[in-house]
Amino acid sequence: MKKPEAAMAVQPDPCPELVVETGPEGRGVGSWVPQDKHRLVTHYLNATRHAWKNWPKRVLIDPFCGPGRIRVAGESFTRDGGAVAAWRVMEANGVALTHVLLGDKDGTRSHACKARLDALGAQNVEAFTGSADQAIIEMVKHVPRGALCFAYVDPYSLEHLSFSIIEALAPLKVDIAAHFSIMDLRRNADQELARGRFDRAIPGMRDDSRIKGANLVTLADECFAKWVDLVQGLGFQHSKAMPLVTNNSGHGLYRLVFFARHDLPLRIWGDVAKDKNLELFG
Ligand SMILES: C[S@@+](CC[C@H](N)C(=O)[O-])C[C@H]1O[C@@H](n2cnc3c(N)ncnc32)[C@H](O)[C@@H]1O
Repeated sequence: MKKPEAAMAVQPDPCPELVVETGPEGRGVGSWVPQDKHRLVTHYLNATRHAWKNWPKRVLIDPFCGPGRIRVAGESFTRDGGAVAAWRVMEANGVALTHVLLGDKDGTRSHACKARLDALGAQNVEAFTGSADQAIIEMVKHVPRGALCFAYVDPYSLEHLSFSIIEALAPLKVDIAAHFSIMDLRRNADQELARGRFDRAIPGMRDDSRIKGANLVTLADECFAKWVDLVQGLGFQHSKAMPLVTNNSGHGLYRLVFFARHDLPLRIWGDVAKDKNLELFG
């Protein structure tokens, strides 16, 4: 499959009776979820299809999986969630995921995501319930030896992007696509910092001289830079392509950040993130 559009097209819900992701306020997710987040992940998986062929065990780790189906605000129909879209593109390329490890704080969601993948014929799908910083420990134990893993780390807020999640993934042969919420660092950032809301996501941030010296305009960027440094300290390199996802009013919401230990995946992510078809990243 040269382009992953087939996997991104609206497909029937294999389990229409099950819960659907409608965003933290229940009004439908932003159009940037399928257009930017899911599109980038599926384009990346499509572009790496030849590399995956060399790995008999191919694992998706999704510790904030949601129910596997989303409804975009203003749309009357539903679309695949991230894990289902990722599974479809791998399947369509003849490199189906051999294991899918799904976690969500809300077990009805991780189990709904599993049910949808099971219904599509996915193999070895396991659902975990609990906060990602705890569940990830069990999830990692279920990764078979010698597997190539792709971790999709997609929390609603920075507060839940506990650094211990990345630490738990680090011993694996894994590439990581993570959504770092910039928005959280722009809203009441000084008060939130003072009460330690982001300490688990960015350990040591309140002692960092660059962060201490930042003003409200530079604070988000300094926190982001500190977090990238911390992840690099675990032996990962980051792609220079870190697209900023914006909402419909043009406000920055997330940075989509990709970490790997080898040049090939970093190069492919860089190419995909600059793909002219991804208007946001053009
Ligand atoms: C952005 S949504 C996931 C969307 C999904 N990744 C997708 O692309 O379709 C975030 C999910 O994280 C779950 N969640 C919230 N806090 C969590 C936590 N601390 N640990 C694990 N899951 C959490 C929510 O229940 C929600 O389903």
